Amino acid sequence: MANDRDELKKIAGEKAVEYVESGMVVGLGYGSTAIHALRLIGELIRGGELEGIQAIPTADLIAEEACKAGIPLTSLEDHPRIDVTIDGADEVDPELNLIKGGGGALLREKIVAQASSLNIIVVDEQKLSPVLGTNFDLPVEIIPFGWRPLEAYLRSLDAEPKVRTKTDGTPFVTDNGNYILDCRFGAIEDPYALSAELKSRAGIVEHGLFLDLASEVIIAAGDGIRSLKRD
Ligand code: A5P
Repeated sequence: MANDRDELKKIAGEKAVEYVESGMVVGLGYGSTAIHALRLIGELIRGGELEGIQAIPTADLIAEEACKAGIPLTSLEDHPRIDVTIDGADEVDPELNLIKGGGGALLREKIVAQASSLNIIVVDEQKLSPVLGTNFDLPVEIIPFGWRPLEAYLRSLDAEPKVRTKTDGTPFVTDNGNYILDCRFGAIEDPYALSAELKSRAGIVEHGLFLDLASEVIIAAGDGIRSLKRD
């Protein structure tokens, strides 16, 4: 079963590479699905089928993977606009809104997504959900200084927040030096209202609701591959 799921992730990740053309600036997302796109892009560069690609990674780990794959890197300083970004997601609703941040890269992922002309999201069918929050806790990236009051604030919004920890029990620290509170909200009926509320609170750096950002979601399922596009 696990192998089947891995195979579906590979199919979805690789399908997205059809959007990548020579000369493009490409955003590289995080996760076990998007990594397949990264590896295929590397193969195509090494084989001479893609030329002049410059990539912007959404995490330090992804920068390392891109270097290993032979993908030239650039930065948002040099390229503030990105042609296409390929990224994963943790939950996808029927409007193509997403929860992201399971890997802890949500802040850079959102900056990259907002700078991209096209955002291709790659998932297996288990990520689909009728309402965001049903299957995945919402990651909220916060400044460590304020973690206690922010935890209380999130509780006041009816969430059950939990500081994300590493296997040794110490707090997970993002590439930006922050903590993540994984917040169980249950079904989030109005993600736009929640997004605005969270953004209004000092110390919350970013949250994992990615609203109106996905251009297309490529879904690999047992019975084949399909895609949902934004109108
Ligand atoms: C990273 O912070 C997330 O937004 C990922 O894109 C997400 O966790 C997808 O990962 P998988 O493809 O491994 O499920």
